[in-house]
Amino acid sequence: MLQHPQVKGPGIGLLGISLGADICLAMASFLKNVSATVSINGSVFSENRGIHYKQTSIPPLGYDLRRTKVPFSGLLDIVDVRNDIVRGYENPSMIPIEKAQGPILFIVGQDDHTWRSELYAQVASERLQAHGKEKPQIICYPGTGHYIEPPYFPMCPASFHILLNKPVIWGGEPRPHSKAQVDAWKQILSFFCKHLGGTQKRAISKL
Ligand SMILES: *[C@@H]1O[C@H](CO)[C@@H](O)[C@H](O)[C@H]1NC(C)=O
Ligand SMILES: *[C@@H]1O[C@H](CO)[C@@H](O)[C@H](O)[C@H]1NC(C)=O
Repeated sequence: MLQHPQVKGPGIGLLGISLGADICLAMASFLKNVSATVSINGSVFSENRGIHYKQTSIPPLGYDLRRTKVPFSGLLDIVDVRNDIVRGYENPSMIPIEKAQGPILFIVGQDDHTWRSELYAQVASERLQAHGKEKPQIICYPGTGHYIEPPYFPMCPASFHILLNKPVIWGGEPRPHSKAQVDAWKQILSFFCKHLGGTQKRAISKL
């Protein structure tokens, strides 16, 4: 990416959602020249397969599918499947985000049914501060589910989950979720403009 002719450098910004957000957080923690990272409903924890980079391995947090709930709709609710965060921000399965060079913006849907995004963002904030870093910006949206996508994308309340081989609930109510998508996009653009040396005060959104 740094060698791409459209990339100004010397740093790049990363934006990811869900497992993709965790990959971005791991990249920011282990790689150089990541100047700003946005995590949308990331968990900040090592997923099922663990995270490996050179000599470092972060063990997975683990889960128990017996904690899956099947509400009236018949769709699976997996929000409580993952194991508890023992020892809070010192949990060994946590991505070492304090190593990240640039700031991190956490975007959280408070009706996230994939995992407890809001709790995870709080633990991430505690971890950064315990390591002498600044308190990160956390933007929480009520009535908003796991899939905060760009503005005007239809809300995806539930869909097929590749690991479970069944449809699961992602959460969110149409109106607040759609509003959150519009606002989150603006927040992401201004965060990147600020931390990636944009010349304009605000990025021009094409959406
Ligand atoms: C990474 O950042 C450093 C310091 O800002 C810069 O000197 C270097 O050129 C950057 N690396 C790349 C590949 O852009
Ligand atoms: C976070 O997850 C919730 C619930 O699954 C979802 O509704 C919301 O859109 C997600 N937020 C983002 C920014 O993706």
